[in-house]
Amino acid sequence: MSVRRLAEESVQPQSFAFSKENAAWAQKRIAMYPAGRQQSAVIPLLMRAQEQDGWVSRATIESVADMLDMPYIRVLEVATFYTQFQLQPVGTRAHIQVCGTTPCMLRGAEDIRAVCQKHIHPEPHHLNEDGTMSWEEVECAGACVNAPMVTIGFDTYEDLTPERFEEILIAFQEGKGDTIQPGPQNGRRFSAPIDGQITLLETPKPSKPIETTDEGDSAANKATSPGRKRKVTVESAPAIDSPAPAETKPSVAEAEAEKKKATGRARRKPDQAMREGATGPESPAIEETAPKKPARKSTPRKPKE
Ligand code: FES
Repeated sequence: MSVRRLAEESVQPQSFAFSKENAAWAQKRIAMYPAGRQQSAVIPLLMRAQEQDGWVSRATIESVADMLDMPYIRVLEVATFYTQFQLQPVGTRAHIQVCGTTPCMLRGAEDIRAVCQKHIHPEPHHLNEDGTMSWEEVECAGACVNAPMVTIGFDTYEDLTPERFEEILIAFQEGKGDTIQPGPQNGRRFSAPIDGQITLLETPKPSKPIETTDEGDSAANKATSPGRKRKVTVESAPAIDSPAPAETKPSVAEAEAEKKKATGRARRKPDQAMREGATGPESPAIEETAPKKPARKSTPRKPKE
């Protein structure tokens, strides 16, 4: 994985501003957080800025920091931490993130990367000749069961072979990325076995509903559904089918006595032999058979002269 730094000065824009629509969205988003917690909007704002301009520039970081009254370094830390934020210009049609973590690597990520190198650029974070495509290697995107995989925009393309990935890449390059169905590319559903479902084959039988009245319902429940009878099943509330518990709450005196007992137990010397024939260091067998150490002779110190 490459070091995440801001793009070179030569490509950094002088300023950043949200469009009118995005600025209104940002203000609404900031207002969603409790007073004093507006800085929590940093990720949504950076992401919106990236959706607008394609990447996050230094000016974007400073502008978002000013909006949230944050030091620039704090926003820079967020932007450089998450690989979801692009710190340099990316392809106008697609930026491909190839997962290079162990499961994907073991399942052929290197071949997927080679397709990017062949069609886009030998080096990551470089645009292709017409500026439409770029790629990079990232860490696990959370679809390891369907390795190898790539992320393009907000979608993942999984269970790839170099051949299938090449088709996908070319479709994006030609501006036909929306014709490709995201997800597994080998025909399986989500991460189910390719040959079909082999577990959870029985349809669960519906359980017998238990009728209860509104008695005991919360005030809020009554307010929203006056006089309504709720259906409560054993699955949704297993406690209704269990025997009533015995009085379990101990009195203060009982609790104190229990506490004393526990403290006494903790302070007691450890048991000397936990079972007959035990061979541990504290067992009687060891005590009897272990050779007795001779008493250590102490050598008298010479007095200082
Ligand atoms: S290792 Fe590639 S998605 Fe997890």
